[in-house]
Amino acid sequence: MAGGPTTVALARAVAEAGAFPFLAGGYKSVDALQAEIEELRASGHPFGVNLFVPGSAHVDEAAFAAYAATLADDAEALGVELDPHPVADDDGWDAKLALLLAHPVPVVSLTFALPLPADIAALREAGTRVLATVTTPAEALAARDAGVDGLIVQGPDAGGHSATFDAHRIPDPASTVEVVRAVAAVVDLPLIAAGGVDGPAAVRELRDAGAEAVAVGTLLLRAAEAGTSSTHRNALADPRFTDTAITRAFTGRPARALRNDFVDRHEPDALVAYPAVHHLTRALRRAAGRAGDAERLHLWAGTGWRAAREASAADIIRALAAEL
Ligand SMILES: Cc1cc2nc3c(=O)[nH]c(=O)nc-3n(C[C@H](O)[C@H](O)[C@H](O)COP(=O)(O)O)c2cc1C
Repeated sequence: MAGGPTTVALARAVAEAGAFPFLAGGYKSVDALQAEIEELRASGHPFGVNLFVPGSAHVDEAAFAAYAATLADDAEALGVELDPHPVADDDGWDAKLALLLAHPVPVVSLTFALPLPADIAALREAGTRVLATVTTPAEALAARDAGVDGLIVQGPDAGGHSATFDAHRIPDPASTVEVVRAVAAVVDLPLIAAGGVDGPAAVRELRDAGAEAVAVGTLLLRAAEAGTSSTHRNALADPRFTDTAITRAFTGRPARALRNDFVDRHEPDALVAYPAVHHLTRALRRAAGRAGDAERLHLWAGTGWRAAREASAADIIRALAAEL
């Protein structure tokens, strides 16, 4: 979970509880990622690193400026300046890939797109198992053909960004069980199911549907070891939030969040332009987080958010695995 929630402490606690942790490679510099990898490696536990794969960078400048203008009142309320010119970035893909080839880790998981098959092959030759996150059978087939070792099958109930390769597509409502069954019907790779897991019964159901393992995000957001901001943590426990929604308003790519005022006001005009919109709203979101303004913050949450407890990561993992 890039953006703060995943810390080395969370990854270590998850590993010590017997689960398999991932470090978040997204949004951070290659040096910061390297430091986290070294720190976690020293604990002796196997782990994975998650990377954002860059996609198309085209942004319509006029549409971008128009969307930026709709955020003016929010920017003013929070005392921040917005840059109406799109910023492009590839999340340091080349440097992060080079780091992971020079210092291989047990597992690399990929999200948002597929890299060149040669990049996947290079990671595998370095001894790393490569997982691609997919949201449809078609993406699963493309990932298989690109040569990955396994798939993370993400259902639309998942918190945070949809891994969809096509950011223009709002994922159709479907349970993660249905998406796992549909993917299992077309590919013969190990599947890890993600999305909306709210307890041990969901773990059992997903394994019965064909997943070898189950991944969780939201359930760990209030863990003691997580780096989730206090505004986000408090919102997850706040009864005033009664629903989640898939929105492009914060980053320009569909993501599931607690439905707040920002989502209601800006989703109707939201522009599909990731990561340009992520950069556009970043200062605004930072200021909202600092001010404790939950109505203007991206409160990533899956549909199972009500089950996210304040507890140690070990307690959360043990409770999830209770029926295994
Ligand atoms: C706060 C947050 C941040 C996330 N960041 C990432 C990320 O950096 N990379 C990624 O592949 N998935 C990310 N996800 C999605 C998770 O990998 C996973 O698909 C999702 O959390 C599963 O659904 P759940 O949240 O209902 O458990 C994030 C999810 C959340 C809630």
